[in-house]
Amino acid sequence: MTNTRPRVELIPIFEDNYVFCLIDDNNQEAFVIDPGEAAKTSQYLKDNGLKLKGVLLTHHHNDHVGGVRPLVSEHPAPIYAPLKNKTQIGHADTWVTEGETVRLGPFEFKVLELPGHTLGHVAYWEPKMKWLFSGDVLFGLGCGRLFEGSYEQGYESLQRIKKLPADTLVYCTHEYTEANLNFCNMLSNLDNSPITGDNEDLELYANQLLSRREMELPSVPLKLSVELRVNPFLLAKSVSQFTYLRDLRNKQ
Ligand SMILES: [Fe+2]
Repeated sequence: MTNTRPRVELIPIFEDNYVFCLIDDNNQEAFVIDPGEAAKTSQYLKDNGLKLKGVLLTHHHNDHVGGVRPLVSEHPAPIYAPLKNKTQIGHADTWVTEGETVRLGPFEFKVLELPGHTLGHVAYWEPKMKWLFSGDVLFGLGCGRLFEGSYEQGYESLQRIKKLPADTLVYCTHEYTEANLNFCNMLSNLDNSPITGDNEDLELYANQLLSRREMELPSVPLKLSVELRVNPFLLAKSVSQFTYLRDLRNKQ
C-alpha cells in the first residue's frame, strides 16, 4: 500500500471561522486546530470514520477554544496549548513554548510564539509539509487586530512569518480576505502606503479571490509567496508604517 500524503480539511464554523482538520489517511487519524465549536468537528470526524489523536490551540479566544472540552469528552485526545495562556485556557495536557517541537502522528510541529493579537499567541509550523497554522496573526491581505500586544510585537511577529519558506501555505482562522481587499483598494490611493495604484499582483489576486468566493470556495490556505507581494502589513517597511496601516484598518 502506498503512503498517502496527509491533507488538511477546512470545517467552517460561526460566521467566518475555520477549524482545521489534518488527516492521515494511512491510519484514519485526525488532528484538529482551534475547535471553536464542537458539534460540526465531531460530526465531521464521525462522518469520515476518523480517530481524533490531538488538538492544537493557538490562543485563548473563545472562537478558537470554545469547543475543546465537549470535543475531547466525545473523542478523547491530548490537548496542546500555549503556556502563556495557561490562566485563560485552564486545561491542556501539554503547555507549549517557543522553539518546542510537538510530535503528533506524521507531523512535527514547531511552536512559534507570535505575540500581538494576544500576548500568548502561538503558531504551529510544519516544516515537512510547509504548513503554517497561524490563528489570528496573519490574514489574507491583512493581519490580526492587536488586542493585547504592542505595535512592535505585531510587526516583529510578521517579520518572523516572512522568513519562512515562500512556498509555505498559511492556514489562518478567519475568512477576512474579501474585506481586506476593500481596505487594500482604498490604500492604493494614499501616500504613506506600501501599495500603489498600479499593483498588477493585487489585481490578479483580486480576480482570483473574487472568482473563488463566487463559487463559495475559501481563500484559505493563503500562499505566503503571494501574500509577500500584496499584503500591506507584510510589505510595511517599519514599525511606524505598520502602525499607520493597523490604525487605519481599525477605523474601517
Ligand atoms: Fe482571536
